[in-house]
Amino acid sequence: MIVVTGATGTLNGATVDHLLKRLPPHQIGVSVRDPARAAHLADRGVRVRQGSYDDPAALRHSFADAEQVLLVSSNDLSSDVVAQHHRAIDAAVDAGAQRILYTSAQGTAFDTPYPPLAIHAATEQHLAASGIAWTALRNGFYGDPAQLLGAWQETGVIAMPADGPFSWVDRRDAAEAAAAILTTDDPFDGPIDLTLPEPVTLADFATAASEITGRQIDRIVVDDETWVSDATTSGVPEAVARFTLSMFQATRSGHFSGSDPTLARLLERNPRSISDQLKGLDVR
Ligand SMILES: NC(=O)c1ccc[n+]([C@@H]2O[C@H](COP(=O)([O-])OP(=O)(O)OC[C@H]3O[C@@H](n4cnc5c(N)ncnc54)[C@H](OP(=O)(O)O)[C@@H]3O)[C@@H](O)[C@H]2O)c1
Repeated sequence: MIVVTGATGTLNGATVDHLLKRLPPHQIGVSVRDPARAAHLADRGVRVRQGSYDDPAALRHSFADAEQVLLVSSNDLSSDVVAQHHRAIDAAVDAGAQRILYTSAQGTAFDTPYPPLAIHAATEQHLAASGIAWTALRNGFYGDPAQLLGAWQETGVIAMPADGPFSWVDRRDAAEAAAAILTTDDPFDGPIDLTLPEPVTLADFATAASEITGRQIDRIVVDDETWVSDATTSGVPEAVARFTLSMFQATRSGHFSGSDPTLARLLERNPRSISDQLKGLDVR
C-alpha cells in the first residue's frame, strides 16, 4: 500500500488522482487532518484515516500497512514545522514503511536567503538518518502566478524585485511525477530535482505574456525596499512581502539556476512551459 499525507491539499491531492489511474484503489491510503474532506476518495475505495503531524499515534495508525509513505511538507507556519516533519518520518518508520518520500524543493540547503529551504534541509537530514530508503522530491517553484508576477494583466508591466534564473513548474506535472516515482520499480534514492528543462526569469515571463496577449508586457526591476514598501501600502503584510522578497534574493544568488531532465523523463513529455501555464490563465 502507498499512503499519502496532505491528500486534501492541492499537490498531493493531485498525486492521489494520478495514483488512482495507475493502481487499484485498495492499494492507496491517505492520512488527512479532516477525513470528511476526503469523502470523495473513500467513495472511490481509497483507505482514509485521520492523521496530523502533531499526533504521532494517529500518524502510526494512518501509515499502517504502507510500504511507501509520501509526506507533504507542512504549510502550518504557526508550528515548529521541522518538528512536525520529524514526527511524521518517525511515525512512518515505526509503522514499518520501507520508503518515505517527501515534497522538498529545488535548491534545498541550510544557508540560503529563502527560509523554507532550511526547513527542507533539516527534514532531508532526518530522512537520511531514518535508516530506511527515502526520496526527496525537490520540486521547482509553483503556485499562484499573480503572486510571482504582480498585477501585470492590469498594468502591462511585471514590476518586481531583481530576479535570477529559477524553475516554475506546473503543480499538476509535479504531482504526476510523484505518482510515477511511487509506482516505478526504479530506485529514486535521496534528493531528485524536478524542474523545467531550462530555468526561466521574469524577463522570460514578460516575453511569454507579450506573445500570448499580443500586448507589450515589460519587465521592470523595482528596488527591494521600494517594492516592500509598495506591497505593504497596498495591504500585503510586511512579513509576507519580505518572505516573497527572500525568494527573489535567492534566485539572484543562483540557488535555482540548475535544471534537470528527470521531470520530463518521468512525464514522458516536456513539462508544461511557462507559456503553457500562462495560457491556462484568463489572459487578455
Ligand atoms: N515549491 C513551491 O514553490 C511551493 C509552493 C507552495 C507550497 N509549497 C509547499 O508544498 C506543500 C504542498 O503544496 P500545496 O500547494 O499542495 O499546498 P496546500 O494545498 O496548502 O496543501 C498543504 C497540505 O498540507 C497539509 N498539512 C498542513 N499542516 C499539516 C499538519 N500539521 N499535519 C498534516 N498535514 C498538514 C494540509 O492539510 P489540510 O488539507 O488539512 O489543510 C494540506 O493538505 C505546502 O504545504 C508547502 O509546504 C511549495
